[in-house]
Amino acid sequence: MAHLQWPEIPDGRSGDVRVVHRALAYRFGDRVVQTGEEIQALEERRGDRWVCWMSTTIDELILHDEAVYRARGDVLVAGLGLGYFVHAARARPAVRSLTVVERSADVIALVWPYVGAGATLIDADIFDFLAGPPAARYDFVYADIWARVTPANLPDMRRLRGLAQPHLVPGGEVWYWGQELLQTQPQVAPPPRQPR
Ligand SMILES: C[S@@+](CC[C@H](N)C(=O)[O-])C[C@H]1O[C@@H](n2cnc3c(N)ncnc32)[C@H](O)[C@@H]1O
Repeated sequence: MAHLQWPEIPDGRSGDVRVVHRALAYRFGDRVVQTGEEIQALEERRGDRWVCWMSTTIDELILHDEAVYRARGDVLVAGLGLGYFVHAARARPAVRSLTVVERSADVIALVWPYVGAGATLIDADIFDFLAGPPAARYDFVYADIWARVTPANLPDMRRLRGLAQPHLVPGGEVWYWGQELLQTQPQVAPPPRQPR
């Protein structure tokens, strides 16, 4: 798990998006347990609350593990977030190139300067991008455009898998954040892992 290291993104705010560092605490009923761990989080303001897109808790990082392991060749990433996947995938010898599709100009402004080196950025909605004509073919497409792992993501996943097909090389693979937790759902049943 050497790749469980994340890029340091400084605290900052752009529009309705912010990066913050904070102490990690868990709430159990009335009890709040401080872990002593500091995390960074990417949050977006919706009304009067901040919704977390991504944080560096071990639970969230581990949910990228399978995708980091599978990433190979030319990789298309949907959702920049805190740039953790980009950072981890870049360190994999099997990964030749990284192209990131992110729809939020605020996320890009806060995060891309710290993780973008050597990667290509496409400022677009992934569904619009994939619906367009393929400009390149990818060996691996990784989508993490959701704030939670929930069966409510399944329609998006199925749509994305269909739209991604013309953008794949033969044998190319589409993978999603949290897929292993949802893989009993026929819409996202993964192919077997190939040894490498
Ligand atoms: C959960 S975060 C991604 C975390 C990322 N995997 C990481 O390693 O830090 C989701 C990101 O997807 C972006 N996003 C959400 N919907 C999108 C869409 N339809 N097209 C492109 N980006 C999208 C959000 O703005 C956010 O930056």
